[in-house]
Amino acid sequence: MKLIFIGPPGSGKGTQAVRLEREAGIIQLSTGDMLRAAVASGSAIGQQAKSIMEAGELVSDAIIVQMIQDRIAQPDCKKGFILDGFPRTIAQAEALDVMLTDQDSHLDGVIEFQVDETILVKRIAGRFTCKQCGEGYNDFLKPPAVDGVCDICGSTEFKRRADDNTETVKTRLDAYRAQTEPLLPYYREKGLMMSVDAMNSIELVSKELDSLLLQCQASA
Ligand code: AP5
Repeated sequence: MKLIFIGPPGSGKGTQAVRLEREAGIIQLSTGDMLRAAVASGSAIGQQAKSIMEAGELVSDAIIVQMIQDRIAQPDCKKGFILDGFPRTIAQAEALDVMLTDQDSHLDGVIEFQVDETILVKRIAGRFTCKQCGEGYNDFLKPPAVDGVCDICGSTEFKRRADDNTETVKTRLDAYRAQTEPLLPYYREKGLMMSVDAMNSIELVSKELDSLLLQCQASA
């Protein structure tokens, strides 16, 4: 299955994509994670992206499109993937259409994570992830069962993102509204849009998403 997760920062896209990769083996392709890895490695792309990401703005379409094009051409993406954080502009969506057509492939669905913006700052300010397995946690909403120990892999090392602060969240939300929300009508017209109520608990969102994916599978 080839899916897109769309939603504002903190809406829970990454939480669900990581879970689905672990439970259903659908590869998560997160452009945010790819860019953070590039920044950490000090590569040319990382150097260009660092200050843009820290300001909460969008990295250029040219960089992002090339990154995704290279990634989805790899053999492990043949069976399917979840695009988490891509596309984020109409230009990226159009480039994705061309890439998939060239591969004689298509999208199976686009899932919007619908949230009330008031919850997002709390979700983002409290977020941290396991350094080893990438499992996501939250100080307020989803702490590990044993303080300081990852529920999944037992690691005691965690990390927080440089762009997870109140000022940057505002810019990220503005970018979402101005540049990413126009994708909703774009995909609605193609008959691909579905949505989950991402205000619910992680468990309830998981259930709603799993039943949407079953519908997608049935009609694939
Ligand atoms: P990216 O890494 O994609 O960040 P984002 O889109 O801002 O999304 P987040 O990762 O913040 O949120 P999420 O929806 O995944 O939430 P999560 O599941 O973690 O992008 C970062 C930057 O990279 C961008 O600002 C831009 O600069 C650049 N970039 C990336 N892609 C780009 C592109 N295509 N084009 C241009 N630039 C690009 O959940 C958040 C927290 O809430 C967690 O703590 C979690 O435990 C908790 N939580 C999740 N779900 C629930 C729930 N249902 N109930 C309670 N708590 C929950």
